[in-house]
Amino acid sequence: MAKKILVLGSFVADAAFRAARLPGWGETLMGSGFALGPGGKGSNQAVAAARAGAQVQMLSRLGDDAFGRLARDTWAADGIDASLTENCETPTGSAVIMVDEVTGQNAIIVVPGACFTLRPNDVERAGAAIRSAGVLLAQLELPLDTVECGLRIAREAGVRTILNPAPARALSDQMLGLADFLIPNESEAALLTGLPVESKEEAEAAARVLMGRGAKCVIVTLGAQGALVCAAGADAQLVEAFHAGAVLDTTGAGDGFCGGFAAALSEGRTVLEAARFGCAAAGISVTRAGTAPSMPRREEILALLG
Ligand code: RIB
Repeated sequence: MAKKILVLGSFVADAAFRAARLPGWGETLMGSGFALGPGGKGSNQAVAAARAGAQVQMLSRLGDDAFGRLARDTWAADGIDASLTENCETPTGSAVIMVDEVTGQNAIIVVPGACFTLRPNDVERAGAAIRSAGVLLAQLELPLDTVECGLRIAREAGVRTILNPAPARALSDQMLGLADFLIPNESEAALLTGLPVESKEEAEAAARVLMGRGAKCVIVTLGAQGALVCAAGADAQLVEAFHAGAVLDTTGAGDGFCGGFAAALSEGRTVLEAARFGCAAAGISVTRAGTAPSMPRREEILALLG
């Protein structure tokens, strides 16, 4: 039986606005749609993994407020174990998301709030749960030392580690060395390496640099092109994106990939199979509005995989 995925990450409430373009400073722009819903990269990836068929446990922190209750309701609806996530006095965070109504592209500002109070000692207290997981899945919406602590506990216990370095921040070689799988998008790979990442060749060059700095396997997500899988001693392999319908909202596509990838990995699929699974999950998610609500169920992913 597949072991659980432990997600060490954020929850925030997403306030998503659709408009024809971004407003300028000092400008008021009429929009065409609004939705308030569950978000945060950690929670989105937890929902994606759970809907893809994995057993998921969430280690985060919430405020004692309406957004915190939204998190718990969201996780309960998808069978995600929230027993490691405590409440605190800091309010739950939120994100403002602007979605281009024509292309589905997005721009985000996130204020992490309560989840950013999660400290390394809190992660250590959850050590037994981390050690009993099959996969630890983390992002960068928590303090860096908190994430590093979780990755280290997992690594020392032989638990596979996945780090989605988003939102992008400079990372030490020590941190990169704790990632069995590092999953940046193009802009994150560019920020981490200082190299341009606009083509498949440039993505591979950046991935090789990140592997030279310690990451074992680097998967650069390339949006509509798919994902480039780079592992030591092997040629880079492009896993093509899936077209599952008209693109409505690309927000959370990377989360769909990471959650789907982690779920497939935890059930024993190879890295390339897991990357295909992740691409299928992401491909469906962009045809729907929102982040966590857009994540597909296992049957939909399997149907698209054929
Ligand atoms: O990856 C998308 C997510 O980034 C959104 O849900 C938003 O909350 C930000 O964290």
